[in-house]
Amino acid sequence: MGSVPRDEPSGVSLSRVAETDQRPPGREVLHMLAPQASDCNTCVVYGDDVGQSLLDQVEDAERELRAAAEADRAGGPDGSDADLQRYFDEVIAADQKIEPRDWIPEAYRKGLVRQIAQHAHSEIIGMQPEGNWISRAPSLKRKAILLAKVQDEAGHGLYLYAAAETLGVAREELVQMLLDGRQKYSSIFNYPTLTWADIGAIGWLVDGAAIVNQVPLCRCSYGPYARAMIRICKEESFHQRQGFEILYTLANGTGAQRRMAQDAVDRWWYPSLAMFGPPDTASTHSEQSMAWKIKRFSNDDLRQRFVDMCVQQASVLGLAIPDPDLRWNAERGSYDFTDPDYDELFRVIKGNGPCNRQRMAYRHRAYDDGAWVREAAAAHAAKRRAEAA
Ligand SMILES: [Fe+2]
Ligand SMILES: [Fe+2]
Repeated sequence: MGSVPRDEPSGVSLSRVAETDQRPPGREVLHMLAPQASDCNTCVVYGDDVGQSLLDQVEDAERELRAAAEADRAGGPDGSDADLQRYFDEVIAADQKIEPRDWIPEAYRKGLVRQIAQHAHSEIIGMQPEGNWISRAPSLKRKAILLAKVQDEAGHGLYLYAAAETLGVAREELVQMLLDGRQKYSSIFNYPTLTWADIGAIGWLVDGAAIVNQVPLCRCSYGPYARAMIRICKEESFHQRQGFEILYTLANGTGAQRRMAQDAVDRWWYPSLAMFGPPDTASTHSEQSMAWKIKRFSNDDLRQRFVDMCVQQASVLGLAIPDPDLRWNAERGSYDFTDPDYDELFRVIKGNGPCNRQRMAYRHRAYDDGAWVREAAAAHAAKRRAEAA
């Protein structure tokens, strides 16, 4: 798919503003754009509008992916172990993509299976906190949007399980590892959704953090994962916009609605910052992952990028980020901010968050309830095979 020009409010371009000013666009410009943004759900104001937008990066990654597929791959391996490794290293160094047909080191395979499976599990478990509000959405329109969003998350899980399967692991095996607790999902989904505003905060902050994390993965060295991420990121950008739009509506509503929106942002801010993982000094998988071009930026770099993006957007919402120490640092060209409580992050990862038990109990129940579907599908496939034989 080629590059499609995106809607931009007439007469004002954030990218033009960003070019003439070292600081991200100011509150005034964003306020001018906000009313127009509410009429236009592809408007640039919702995404990362500082400089090159996140969606532009996804499109660049898609172009790179096509170029890598068309580029000549000189000197295939001669089959010896040393040559297989040489070829793998060369493909990575040349920014080409590793495909399922290629030999890969076992540690690369294992690391990717762990990461992609954890990502797939997060998409599936992540349907629960929002699914909680489908039957209580405040209007038919909100309900339809939320249904579509939760369904998108199921689709993301499926793309990712399919990508993991190209590494020689069965989806059934991965699902079992989630159910046994041998594989994890993102700690963010162990927090409860207490009010309708939480659906807005999840879209704005949780999907927003997911995009910042995932856009660089569109350039990951493993082709099937990179391709899945391109599709996912395009959908995630809409998730972020729908969350922003819910909060924008509440923040401009009655006093009670405004307080509800602020309360949700207060509760989701630090868990969203924790989504980028432990600080670089305590991150165990990062270095190798960067050398293999799976991960492109460190946890702390991505967290900073997210904070810088959110400060501008919070000013459009007119909601406060719950951090008294948040301030612009002209020297660094970024905002200083308070780190999340990493002890809490580790407690939640270990299974002691507010909803860990509930989320897993629900997943077990859904898996058990679906047993008859799996049995029927297997019986049907066996019958088709027998008929064909
Ligand atoms: Fe998703
Ligand atoms: Fe999402």
